[in-house]
This record gives sequence, C-alpha cells and structure tokens, in this order.
Amino acid sequence: MASDIHDIRGINNPLDRLGRPLHDLRISVMDRCNFRCPYCMPKDAFHEHYRFLRSQERLAFDEITRLSRLFANLGVRKLRLTGGEPLLRANLADLVGDLSDIGEIQDIALTTNGVLLGQHAVDLFANGLKRVTVSLDTLDNETFKRMSGGFAALDQVLDGIDAAIAAGLTPVKVNTVIERGVNDHTALDLVDYFRGRPVIVRFIEFMDVGNRNGWDPKMVVPSRELAARVHARWPMHAISENYRGEVAQRWRFDDGAGEVGFISSISQPFCGACSRARLSSEGQFYNCLFAAEGLDLRTPLRAGATDAELLQLIRGTWMGRRDRYSELRDELRRSDTEHKKIEMHYIGG
Ligand code: GTP
Ligand code: 5AD
Ligand code: SF4
Ligand code: SF4
Repeated sequence: MASDIHDIRGINNPLDRLGRPLHDLRISVMDRCNFRCPYCMPKDAFHEHYRFLRSQERLAFDEITRLSRLFANLGVRKLRLTGGEPLLRANLADLVGDLSDIGEIQDIALTTNGVLLGQHAVDLFANGLKRVTVSLDTLDNETFKRMSGGFAALDQVLDGIDAAIAAGLTPVKVNTVIERGVNDHTALDLVDYFRGRPVIVRFIEFMDVGNRNGWDPKMVVPSRELAARVHARWPMHAISENYRGEVAQRWRFDDGAGEVGFISSISQPFCGACSRARLSSEGQFYNCLFAAEGLDLRTPLRAGATDAELLQLIRGTWMGRRDRYSELRDELRRSDTEHKKIEMHYIGG
C-alpha cells in the first residue's frame, strides 16, 4: 500500500554489514537467451531440453514494478534490466514505461546482446530507457561465432548498436569479455572501430560466474596488460569515476576520440563500494553476483504480503549482507570447492 511506504520513508537507507548503501538494482527479466556464450551458458549444459522457467514462474511486470518501488524506497536510484536476454521478454518497453514512473529512479539502462535492438530501440527510448549496454566480444566473424554459440550474425549486433545510437540511447556501452587465447588478439580492433563514435568499449576480465563455465585463472587477461596495449597504440589518461562504486576504470584518449573502460573484478576487485542488488527473473533477491542463496520475494508477493512486510524482508537481507566474493575469491576457491553460485543467466551479470 502506498500509505505504508509513506510511513516508513525516511528510516530507509539501510547499510549492509560493511557500511555499503543500496543504490543499484539489476533486474533479470528473462532467464532464456538466444546466444550460448560458453562463459555464461555453455551449449552442452543449456541444451534444447534444459528446463528454463515457465512464464508464470517469472515475475510479471506489475510485480517487478512493485518491487522496484520498494527498492527505490530503500535507496535504489538506478535500475538495469538484464537477462539472459531481456529483449526476449515480450513488450519489454511497457515495463520500462512503468519503471520510469517511479519518481526516485534517475537512470534506467538495459544490458543486451544487441540482436533484437534494431526492432526495439525506438520504443524503448520513447518509454524512458536512457541507455543500453551491448555485449560484444569481437569483430572477427569466426571468433564471434565461437564466443556467442553461433546463433546470430555479427552484423545483426552492429546494426543493433547503430539503431541504439540513432534512437538516442547514448552513450552506448559495449561490454567485451576477454579470454586469453580466444579473443584477446582482436581486442584492439574493437577500440579502433568504435573510437570517435558515441560508444564506450569496456573490457571485462573473464570471471568465474556460475558453476559451469570452466573458468581457469590462466585465461584471465589482467586489465593492466590490456590497457598497456591500448595505450601503446592510442595514448590515453585515467579519468575519475562517474559515480561512487562504478565498476569500470575509465581512460580517455589523449586525441579526444572518446574513452574506454576496464572492469577488473579478478585483478582489482571492487567489492568495497558495491551497492548492487540483484533480482532474478523468478523473484529471488541476491546480495552478490556470486551468491549461493537468495531471498525468495515471489512467494510472499503472491501470498498477499503488504509493502511494509516486503520492505522489512528486503531491508533485513541487505542489512545482513557481508558479501565480497571477488575479494575473497582465492581463499574461497581453495577452502570450499563446493561453493555453489547462482548461474549468470538468472541474474544477468
Ligand atoms: P554503468 O551504469 O554503465 O556503469 O553500468 P555497470 O557497469 O554497472 O553495468 P554493466 O552491466 O555494464 O556491468 C558490466 C559488467 O561488469 C557486468 O556484465 C559484469 O560482468 C561486471 N559486473 C557488474 N557488476 C558487478 C559486480 O557487482 N561484481 C562483479 N564481480 N562484476 C560486476
Ligand atoms: N565473465 C565476465 N563477464 C561475463 N559476462 C557474462 N559471463 C561473464 C563471465 N564469465 C558478461 C557479459 C555481459 C554481461 C551480461 O555479463 O559479457 O556483458
Ligand atoms: Fe546470453 Fe549474455 Fe549469457 Fe551470452 S553472456 S549467453 S548473450 S546472457
Ligand atoms: Fe559486489 Fe559481489 Fe561483485 Fe563484490 S563480487 S562487487 S560484492 S557483486
């Protein structure tokens, strides 16, 4: 009820056990994907008989909107829609419209593989989406096929990026996961292609997300190494973060042709300022990308819980949060080989 939200407003900027506020909510709207990137949904595990969620198991738009309002009441100002592939969710622009009516929300973004962006960019922008992030790991056709599972053409993604720019969803960010021996040799081509356009390429260190992506530390290319390669070709300088807790370190080209970013979750973990909560498509609330367990919000939501009850659940979970997996990675991997994690396609990175 709007009235219980009102009553509780003001006592609601919970800090977790490490003093971190709740600022971002990343909402997965769809566990399915039309790609099979081996580092996220390897084909042999996510095959044609894989049991994805049934549509009634996914939160409905009105449920997502209600929860987003409650999260906004607890300090969230930024929403990011993710998947799987969020554009596989029918009428996603309607959800964007509902979310943009939440007064406290200052920013709504979308992470997509870009294939369906050409069809939806104009509607998404018209309904209040501010910007998009497109996952794209290489401009080499063969490597693209290998890294995306072979279900789409690279040109479709590039057309999607053009459509997003034309629609005003800028700056477009391109997220590039770099794996040594797989696509590191093509990294600079991406920078070359997007420099001078309203696009920011961000290189992500390959992470041990989920339980099935065959992560090996030897496949991680540390950002430091990659930044040195980019700098040798196009001199650049570090610039300050856009907001506290930004995951990417930003570098601007000396010649004014834009910027690149580096997301260094392995070599330089950024848990200290992590203010991100995650909501899975089935309504589980997770405190960390690497969490083993979440809080089920769908059951109380569908059982008629009041806003005050839901707020209490969310607040209590955040206030108990101690997660800092990336900072503890080595220790946890050594001591707890059974550390089960949520799969990436449920919470979208
Ligand atoms: P901006 O608002 O544009 O700065 O977006 P963002 O960087 O918060 O979101 P984006 O989805 O573009 O994040 C980029 C990538 O960084 C994700 O796909 C993940 O791979 C990684 N990432 C984001 N948040 C976290 C996090 O909390 N922990 C870890 N380990 N990685 C993260
Ligand atoms: N390591 C790093 N980034 C990953 N992503 C997916 N899996 C991984 C991984 N294992 C990124 C994708 C996309 C976002 C949803 O998460 O590139 O940008
Ligand atoms: Fe799909 Fe993105 Fe995962 Fe690739 S990384 S399988 S595009 S959700
Ligand atoms: Fe946040 Fe967990 Fe990522 Fe650390 S590992 S930055 S706590 S999501």
